[in-house]
Amino acid sequence: MDIEVRKDEHIEICLAEAVEAERETTWLEYVYLPHRCLPEVDPEDVGLEVDFLGFRFSAPIMVSAITGGSSLGFKINANIAEAVEKLRLGMCVGSQRIALEKPETVYSFKIARERAPTAFISANIGFQELRRYSVDRLIELVESIEADALTIHLNPLQELLQIESKPTFKGLTSKIGEAVKQLRIPVIVKETGAGMIREDAVKLEELGVKAIDVAGLGGTSWSRVEYHRAVRWHNYLKAGVSKAFWDWGIPTAASIIEVRSAVRSARIIASGGLRSGVDIAKAICLGADMCAVALPILKPALRGPHEIEKILRILIEGLRTAAVLTGVSRIDELKKVKPIIAGRLAEWVNERGLKG
Ligand SMILES: Cc1cc2nc3c(=O)[nH]c(=O)nc-3n(C[C@H](O)[C@H](O)[C@H](O)COP(=O)(O)O)c2cc1C
Repeated sequence: MDIEVRKDEHIEICLAEAVEAERETTWLEYVYLPHRCLPEVDPEDVGLEVDFLGFRFSAPIMVSAITGGSSLGFKINANIAEAVEKLRLGMCVGSQRIALEKPETVYSFKIARERAPTAFISANIGFQELRRYSVDRLIELVESIEADALTIHLNPLQELLQIESKPTFKGLTSKIGEAVKQLRIPVIVKETGAGMIREDAVKLEELGVKAIDVAGLGGTSWSRVEYHRAVRWHNYLKAGVSKAFWDWGIPTAASIIEVRSAVRSARIIASGGLRSGVDIAKAICLGADMCAVALPILKPALRGPHEIEKILRILIEGLRTAAVLTGVSRIDELKKVKPIIAGRLAEWVNERGLKG
């Protein structure tokens, strides 16, 4: 199937169908922040700025990879870029594989830099592409949008369930290492909604990856998206298998704790089902340096930059409110607040021998 059609089909399904994990959540509901009824901090004194990969963000929030490659992708990237430039946040463009296959689609990614001349922008490619294309081609991709980082996404679950994929995974880890060595900009590695455990985070840091985006379970479920596609294409086998994996993966809260316990200097991006400023505050307390959202931005991105701005401002103000209520006035201080970990997350931490 034409890659452009497939990408627009993903967008269409994410807009029309239920695509989030069905029974599982992020497990952030098991994280409690110590509420301070005597806060001694005023909202206007709370500073949310953070430094991330050489950029000063107004808050630890970015828009995760969504799309590109079609006129719809052009519109989405343009609107996201405009919003993040205005708010001094950052973004990652969607997979640029299509630009490697069809160079005429580069315009739909380039627009991000045009609309966000000073914001942090990451390029994006799937780990499968590391085998198909040379590092020189990746450098071209990065340069085509004057990106500040390259994000390599790991989506083995989706690749296994997608109707047209025949994935092979052997040898891909070392390909990530080769890309890290040859690129002059930081490499971020992200999952896409199934999360991460410490063993893989250790490997990624050893390869020299500068930031790890856990993209955990509890938000967009790519097995659920691919299930809907398989049903549309009457592929009963892929539909049947996909259904069993709607809730597969490591919940976002557990993923953050796993990765935090593994890395020394790599920065951690929390994502996967973050839907409020409270979720973001909890993710930071668990050890995230940056937070990212995708699905909540999709509908607003079709309406315009102001609609995206509204969603992002709600997240920012929610985070500010959570900071006041935990009695802190800086993100660095929020990181030091000790969250209370309960229920299944506490069992997980215990079972895995992690420090919560
Ligand atoms: C419509 C849509 C398209 C996506 N496309 C990409 C992509 O091209 N590359 C990528 O790395 N992640 C992609 N993602 C995954 C997100 O970046 C993110 O990791 C995941 O959706 C979890 O975040 P969320 O629960 O906030 O949506 C996409 C997500 C959505 C909703």
